[in-house]
Amino acid sequence: MPSKPSNMKSYEEEVKTFSWDISKKELEYKDGDIINIGWYCSDRICEKGKAEKLALIWESSKGEEKRYTFNDLRLITNTMASYLKNLGVNQGDRVCLFMDKIPELYMGFLGVLKLGAIAQPLFSAFGSESLLTRLEDATTTAIMTQKKHLPKVRNILEKMPYLKYIIVVDDDGSKALREREFALNIETEPKIEKFDCFPSTAETKSVLHYTSGTTGKPKGAQHVHYSLISQYITAKYVLDLQEDDVYWCTADPGWVTGTSYGIIGVWANGVTQCVTDIGFTADNWYKFAEKNKVTVWYSAPTAIRSLMKEGTAAVKKHDLSSLRHLASVGEPLNAEAVIWSQEAFGMMFHDTFWQTETGSIMVSNYPGMKIKPGSMGKPFPGITATVLDLKTSEPITKKGIVGMIAFQPNWPSIIRTYWNNEEIYKSKFKNGWYLSGDRASIDEEGYYWFVGRDDDVINTAGHLVGPFEIESALLEHPAVAESAVVGKPDPVNMEVVKAFIALKPGYDQNKMLELEIMNFVRKKLSALAMPQEIEFVDSLPKTRSGKIMRRVLRAKEWGEEIGDISTLENDM
Ligand code: PRX
Repeated sequence: MPSKPSNMKSYEEEVKTFSWDISKKELEYKDGDIINIGWYCSDRICEKGKAEKLALIWESSKGEEKRYTFNDLRLITNTMASYLKNLGVNQGDRVCLFMDKIPELYMGFLGVLKLGAIAQPLFSAFGSESLLTRLEDATTTAIMTQKKHLPKVRNILEKMPYLKYIIVVDDDGSKALREREFALNIETEPKIEKFDCFPSTAETKSVLHYTSGTTGKPKGAQHVHYSLISQYITAKYVLDLQEDDVYWCTADPGWVTGTSYGIIGVWANGVTQCVTDIGFTADNWYKFAEKNKVTVWYSAPTAIRSLMKEGTAAVKKHDLSSLRHLASVGEPLNAEAVIWSQEAFGMMFHDTFWQTETGSIMVSNYPGMKIKPGSMGKPFPGITATVLDLKTSEPITKKGIVGMIAFQPNWPSIIRTYWNNEEIYKSKFKNGWYLSGDRASIDEEGYYWFVGRDDDVINTAGHLVGPFEIESALLEHPAVAESAVVGKPDPVNMEVVKAFIALKPGYDQNKMLELEIMNFVRKKLSALAMPQEIEFVDSLPKTRSGKIMRRVLRAKEWGEEIGDISTLENDM
């Protein structure tokens, strides 16, 4: 597609003049007004004369296709909100969305927000235990799911007295539903023309995204409806979404990219998007982009590296001339991938950096800006960013020195707390800065260069997994006495999970046991959390106070210096 003027005319100019008021003005929102994301993404777009414009083009893995206009979106989200309300779901209740990437997931999310309830999206590949941990923490009232995922919910139902409603969105009546289970079919349910959206204001809770940390259980990052102000304008300026675009975000709404930019940012801009449930192969993906004439594509480094493996020849088999802007998020985007994308698609992937906690893009490469392959780019206008000295937490003024990425906590979509965990939330702030937990350096021209995380969280294929959650699951296996879980380098997924395990007396180290343990974790948690490698050890390196030192094990995997181990109790 011939290049066209981007929404952000010049980064330098924007930095001088930008204010969040620009976003508010475009959304016709004034401080103190009602602001409901569900309404902004559907009703408002219809009011702007785009009722018949396509909002969603959806294709299943079996090739089935469905199309929805913004008016369909408005009616179906009304219908879902009203259905939940009639069941007894109230404002502020947590409603979990536990579905594959089907239309009901996208519409259900907005329906929950219209009702004023809190949307809690969870990755549908999670096993029962991952699900339970997160539903228990949020004392979730309702879960919307598909038949295929029902067994995982039923497995843990007895432990969840607070879960009153299990809504099955694809029930065909062939098997009787059980206690607490209800069927909702958006195709046949009478459409609700008018639903009075909950009059949420800026600080009304909206989305609760669970994210993993180094210690403890996953934490629920609490967002509010005001996040729209950030998500709308970053989708417009960074992803450059424009009126006639067909946008494709490959992320799953179980993770923040799939909601901030796979639902909210795109539809608040009134832009058409396409979604597929189709499994990953380079050919499948190119076919999908070609068929739908995708113009803007937001993906992730693991996917890009997988495409790279198939080479440029696979690209050239397809007509991808509709593409005009490419962006990436979730993990470091290596320089080779950026250079390859220029060769393969005639344009570079624009790296963007942000987190579940930030709710929107914080550091990025912008359309029209010089890209330095391997760099994450520069802070979004309106964001005050720095790197802090790792010891003093003071901003580093010298260029090229590695510190912790930090932001002044004053942008609209910053999280408001962690569910039930104000203490950990507070620990994210120091000297007036929000601490990202990531390390980077800033060069002479103000470009940010990612170095790594400042904690033990593992980033596998762009998904964060917490070592503690995996270690806890491992301990439930009868053969495991103790374990330590770290990330191990991987050429495609960046990191994969590796577990060091000391067995209980009487158990032999062997391949069968290794596979059994791997499978045990996969079933309980998810395939992402499953160790790809297990190393049996006699004991684990510990501090004198008995804390397992994952960093010693990790350093070995990465061939790095081990650092100060003066507190180490035993040598490996
Ligand atoms: O470590 C950083 C990495 O992903 C973390 C955030 O993960 P999550 O909260 O799951 O949100 C992912 C999608 C927004 C960050 O703390 N990360 C994200 N983007 C990048 C990145 N690492 C390097 N480069 C990026 N562009």
